[in-house]
Amino acid sequence: MSRITTIEQYHEQYKKSVDHPEAFWAEIADEFTWKKKWDKVLDWNFSAPEVSWFINGKFNITENCLDRHLEKDGDKLAYTWEANDPKEPNIQYTYKELHAEVCRFANVLKKHGAVKADRICIYMPMIPQAVIAMLACARIGAVHSVVFAGFSAASLAGRIQDSDCKLVITSDGAYRGVKDIPIKEVVDEALETCASVTKVIVYQRTGTVVKMNAGRDYAWDEEMKNASSVCPAEEMDSEDLLFILYTSGSTGKPKGVVHTCGGYMVFTKYSFENVFQYNPGELFWCTADVGWVTGHSYIVYGPLLAGASSLLFEGIPTWPDPGRFWAMVDKHQVNILYTAPTAIRALQASGLEYVTPYKLNSLRVLGSVGEPINEEAWAWYDTHIGKARCPIVDTWWQTETGGILISPLAAITKTKPGFATLPLPGIQPLLVDEKGTEILGNGVEGNLCIRFPWPSIIRTTYGDHERCRQAYFATYKNLYFTGDGCRRDADGYYRITGRVDDVINVSGHRIGTAEVENAINMHADVVESAVVGYPHDIKGQGIYAYVICTNSEKNPDSLRKEIIAEVMKLIGPIAKPDKIQVVTGLPKTRSGKIMRRILRKVAEGDLSNMGDISTLLDPAVVEEIKKGKI
Ligand code: WT7
Repeated sequence: MSRITTIEQYHEQYKKSVDHPEAFWAEIADEFTWKKKWDKVLDWNFSAPEVSWFINGKFNITENCLDRHLEKDGDKLAYTWEANDPKEPNIQYTYKELHAEVCRFANVLKKHGAVKADRICIYMPMIPQAVIAMLACARIGAVHSVVFAGFSAASLAGRIQDSDCKLVITSDGAYRGVKDIPIKEVVDEALETCASVTKVIVYQRTGTVVKMNAGRDYAWDEEMKNASSVCPAEEMDSEDLLFILYTSGSTGKPKGVVHTCGGYMVFTKYSFENVFQYNPGELFWCTADVGWVTGHSYIVYGPLLAGASSLLFEGIPTWPDPGRFWAMVDKHQVNILYTAPTAIRALQASGLEYVTPYKLNSLRVLGSVGEPINEEAWAWYDTHIGKARCPIVDTWWQTETGGILISPLAAITKTKPGFATLPLPGIQPLLVDEKGTEILGNGVEGNLCIRFPWPSIIRTTYGDHERCRQAYFATYKNLYFTGDGCRRDADGYYRITGRVDDVINVSGHRIGTAEVENAINMHADVVESAVVGYPHDIKGQGIYAYVICTNSEKNPDSLRKEIIAEVMKLIGPIAKPDKIQVVTGLPKTRSGKIMRRILRKVAEGDLSNMGDISTLLDPAVVEEIKKGKI
């Protein structure tokens, strides 16, 4: 049994996972349904990089998520869905019902020509059909690429083109709080530049009027009417692609992170059960969107593999009022709540009057993910939501890791505010200095790396393996580099301090500074720009842009508005700069490299000590930047 129940067992399992990783993971993988077992557990080298788990194993992940539970637990609840509008009735799916819907939609996909290994883009709000669409792809062996429905048409098009998607699954509109967003329109605009897409399936959610393109666009409900609920699962190899998920890095356009079937399946279930200590009959609620990896691993795959019951939520935490989360916890009797520090801070700022009307006594475990959680937010979550009786699991991981790597195990690992605490069994973290030398001992700080593969490690970046090598495996020889800074305290506990590369984390969303700069530079009056993060009370980090403008006559306020519009158009609202400072120059070294350290200090409001600026081409520019700080 792979479930850890005591801290002694954790230490035992951890030791086994390091001493005998193959035997350790084989035992866990044995608990799944395979059509054919693997010949070999693991092959790997981090220099290519090349990692394969459960080699030649054959199975289908949806049989493990769905079919496997039918006999005993077919009537068990898989999802309760709550709409954006609290007055709209809830919709529930048992495992049997979900299985039938997935099979029917899988048959729809097949009818429209989708076959194994095709890429299918999903651009949908948080409705059960988004989950059904993902699983239907997996059922037939197609590779899903879910794009968060807040991304712009240009971003969506870039992602569709990068992986040559053949089909797009979307909805007419999306409700978010008071907004009714016409997302089919976004798809239509994106598809003007996507020749690979031949079919679009549109779920009717809001009833908003959409243009249906004859021969290309089909209505979900119509297609489902005659679809059979019998659909044999495609036999997949462990290393066949399961999905692509785009994420931003420090350079260039977003990368398509690739996860494969076998290792991802084994690790998401294992980490779900152990971190949250899920018990049969409990209700789990992960508030993420399926457009992010948290939604993939802990709304869809992890919980379903474990036969768990989850709550699925369409709306936002602050509508109709900031008590929505707590009302939902009481209404549905949520036992495990997994959310993000940015949501916690926003709800904390709204005041306790939105919390006190609710009992919250069903809660047993609280989780946090997406960014470092500040101690104040941790304490508020602990006191006012967990009533000091719910362990908080601060789970550190990344799109590239597929699942949680460093985290307390609920009620087993002693927690400390702000600490992700200890690695899960199978995870071997280490800290290195700039040169890549390992920093040993405790009470130290460095760059966080992992020295041994785990089953759900990134396999490649779609269509560009070299980029994967460069981004994660080339900085330090034979190590996976996370891009995060980290402290290991006297007890050997890990505390993630944030990104050490040019990536900013805004409300738990990863944004590459280069991407925002590229968008800003598209504005006709902008010559050059530099973007940095700065501490933001609610978002964790805000976006601060320094821009050089050709037209000195231009009203700075209209320039700012136009720049923001440009970023919204090219990326989406999440990448909107919070502050834009017009400057006449940027602090550059003689070799032309922007000294971001200085820009970060000014953005943080720390104008005191700029450090050594003697290598700057024009040190005077620093004074001007300091004076113009917003
Ligand atoms: C980056 C990964 C993991 C799913 C959501 C984000 C930061 C994530 C934590 C945490 C401190 C965290 C890191 C990481 N991060 N969780 N518990 N404590 N930082 O996935 O978009 O791939 O971003 O989010 O900086 O590298 P992502």
